[in-house]
Amino acid sequence: MSRPLVTAARSTALSSLPADLDPGRLPAHVAVIMDGNGRWARQRGLPRVMGHRQGVEALKSTLRLCSDWGIATLTAYAFSTENWSRPGEEVSFLMTLFEGVLARELEGLEREDVRIRFLGDLTALPAGLQSLIEDATARTASNAGIRFNVCTNYGSRHELVEVARELARRVQRGELDPEAIDEAAFASALQTAGESDPDLLIRTSGEFRLSNFLLWQLAYAELHITDVLWPDFDAVALATALGDFQRRQRRFGGVLS
Ligand code: FPP
Repeated sequence: MSRPLVTAARSTALSSLPADLDPGRLPAHVAVIMDGNGRWARQRGLPRVMGHRQGVEALKSTLRLCSDWGIATLTAYAFSTENWSRPGEEVSFLMTLFEGVLARELEGLEREDVRIRFLGDLTALPAGLQSLIEDATARTASNAGIRFNVCTNYGSRHELVEVARELARRVQRGELDPEAIDEAAFASALQTAGESDPDLLIRTSGEFRLSNFLLWQLAYAELHITDVLWPDFDAVALATALGDFQRRQRRFGGVLS
């Protein structure tokens, strides 16, 4: 298996894939709904935002484990189009947290060959965050290691409506025959164009919902729901999700041969 990280630049040793997992049957693309930060904080008598702070640590460790274990793409749901309805203080904390994380972690991402991208309507984000996002995207665009997508102000229905509008505009301009709109044409107008669909969706904190996340892209994903709260999501929890994935028989609507 290829090792994308520049190991010499690592401050920690590469973590090896647990022996009970088959390296030949890993999901190429893992998506995560990082839920339970608020509950994690409440259980400790801390303000909710401390859960988000700890959630960032869990995300960093998940990214590194996925990279070390040979997973090609990790997509994380950081902020949904619905999350604006949270108390103003929490929303501002999250925006400031995202800015701080990006400013602090960019060098490490570059060094570890991560290619980071942000999916969602980025125009609604604070200007400072937008420029950090632009910079991080540009500076890591040609990196060949793990592909890390951070969904920020992302909502799947919004994304699908935007695709419909864009295709309709092309039809109106006479550039596209409506009959030529097939699944591939539709997928190539999504923000995830060029990415494989997630093979595995992990949702933490025991909630059985998709919450407007990658509705098109998750059509054939295997779902792993765990009671673990996101800030506690660690190597054991990730290995458990991957083991669960490896026990599934994926049929994509067909039958087993
Ligand atoms: C939901 O927990 C989680 C979030 C809103 C995600 C917060 C974002 C991060 C941890 C990472 C951001 C990283 C980058 C790189 C920008 P919740 O508040 O819904 O928890 P609850 O259901 O227990 O209240």
